[in-house]
Amino acid sequence: MDDTALTRRDALKVGALSAAALSIPFLPGPLAAKRASEIAENRIPRPYTMAFRKPPVIQPSGRIGDRDVYEITQSQVKREILPGVKTTLFAYNGTVPGPTFRVQRRRPIIVRHINKLPARHPSLGYVPWTSTHLHGAPSLPQYDGYANDISLPGQYKDYFYDNLEPGRTLWYHDHGVHHTSENVYMGLAAQYQILDGAENKLGLPRGAYDVPLIVSDVAFTGSGELLFDNHSDSGHMGDVVLVNGVPWPLMPVEPRKYRFRLLVATNARSFRLRLSNDAPMNVIGTDGGLVARPVPVQELLVGMAERYDLVIDFAPYEGQRIELRNLDPDNTIEYDHTDKVMAFQVGQSVSDPTNNALPAALVESPVMALTPQQAVTTRHMRFERQGSEWVVDGQIWDDVVRSEFRKAIAEPGVGDVEIWELENTSGGWFHPVHVHLVDFKILDRNGTPPRPQEQGPKDVVYVGEGEVVRIIAEFGSLITPPGVPEVRRSGRYMIHCHNVTHEDHDMMTQFWVGGEGAGPDPIQADPPRALPAPPIPPIV
Ligand code: C2O
Ligand code: CU
Ligand code: CU
Repeated sequence: MDDTALTRRDALKVGALSAAALSIPFLPGPLAAKRASEIAENRIPRPYTMAFRKPPVIQPSGRIGDRDVYEITQSQVKREILPGVKTTLFAYNGTVPGPTFRVQRRRPIIVRHINKLPARHPSLGYVPWTSTHLHGAPSLPQYDGYANDISLPGQYKDYFYDNLEPGRTLWYHDHGVHHTSENVYMGLAAQYQILDGAENKLGLPRGAYDVPLIVSDVAFTGSGELLFDNHSDSGHMGDVVLVNGVPWPLMPVEPRKYRFRLLVATNARSFRLRLSNDAPMNVIGTDGGLVARPVPVQELLVGMAERYDLVIDFAPYEGQRIELRNLDPDNTIEYDHTDKVMAFQVGQSVSDPTNNALPAALVESPVMALTPQQAVTTRHMRFERQGSEWVVDGQIWDDVVRSEFRKAIAEPGVGDVEIWELENTSGGWFHPVHVHLVDFKILDRNGTPPRPQEQGPKDVVYVGEGEVVRIIAEFGSLITPPGVPEVRRSGRYMIHCHNVTHEDHDMMTQFWVGGEGAGPDPIQADPPRALPAPPIPPIV
């Protein structure tokens, strides 16, 4: 690393404190270019020159009892993100992002995660232990990717997922204590979709017209490795925007409707998205599944870990190129091309006109029926920076660890409805706050209604600068189909900021559903085992 790089990064630290500071040309000479990457500029492809691609879809490799078993190997790979440049990444089954799960609702599965990462991270030197979280699923505590339920390199763990929750776009990603941000940045993230029969009747775009969009951002060192710079623990922000692992791709589309499953999987960058022709993006789903009726928006603010399912109709735009742009939100670092995400090249003909509907009514989640009157408790939680640490109500994850994992910020009874007020007093940061286990409804933000796109079931909420957001949820009882006994969950679950740098340093705590002592122990109940793993019986 040369001195110039240090100087520039120190300047960016200052810039990160105030977005406005970056627009002041205080950086002399070539440093004025707003880049984070140190690699020669001509190694980075120009926006909209690379081909769009979807991650592969994973297939089961066997069956145990009544459950399909899927295998994921976590390993270090070298892949070309930039043409002709090999970058060291961490992959699920060799791909970044990892393979997409498409599983039927109510069909229980097992996912075997095998940690074959190297003994040390290649440049940072830490031991790449992992804990895999299925974000958006009400998993049992021992299968929820609890931060300290870690699998070391050379270990594996079988995760049991029941897939009882209504259809939705989930994602799975690493949650290993103190290294989530590096592991996710290295590539340990992917989509997981629960397909729900109830959706099929709606005529929404399917098959080739149902497309995952996993948005992330990276920066490169001079030699083409990933550059780590968390700006004094504020968060990594790259200057190269990736969609499904490709820099600013161009996607050919037909003049018809598409469903996009948007996931912002960045470390610290949020996006304010807009199409270059101001066409509407119709929000049909939020983190926890479909909304009651499509909500057309021209602008969409999306924080880390949030998912929005969107229908975009390209029919009126035959032959046009439409860009998906980013109007950089507050407290994100603008670089030369972070105002762009991807582009759509609209063709002239439609090969399949079926499932091309945007119905007026969708299927509303039961969570949206919750009312404040049902709440038995209201809790208040402050998300803030104290000295060098990010804290929740003055607590950090290390306090939980020191208490031998007994300390909890809340102990809701099983089946209790509670209101949680999430407060961010600062003007300098936003915190996308994620609550494990539950789907929640956003009641209000600073006393005003949630944004139009937020009026659906959520598990992450953008707690912006100077905001208090009130959410309501039912803890520990899962909605099951008629005739099926109610499913209950108790035990310890995490709540944290999904700026994963904040999370690692150490804006994370836990709540205990059912109170102290209740539920399976997330670390002890089903610990990882040493490789080799026993063979999985084939599907016969
Ligand atoms: Cu997406 Cu606790 O994480
Ligand atoms: Cu989660
Ligand atoms: Cu945060």
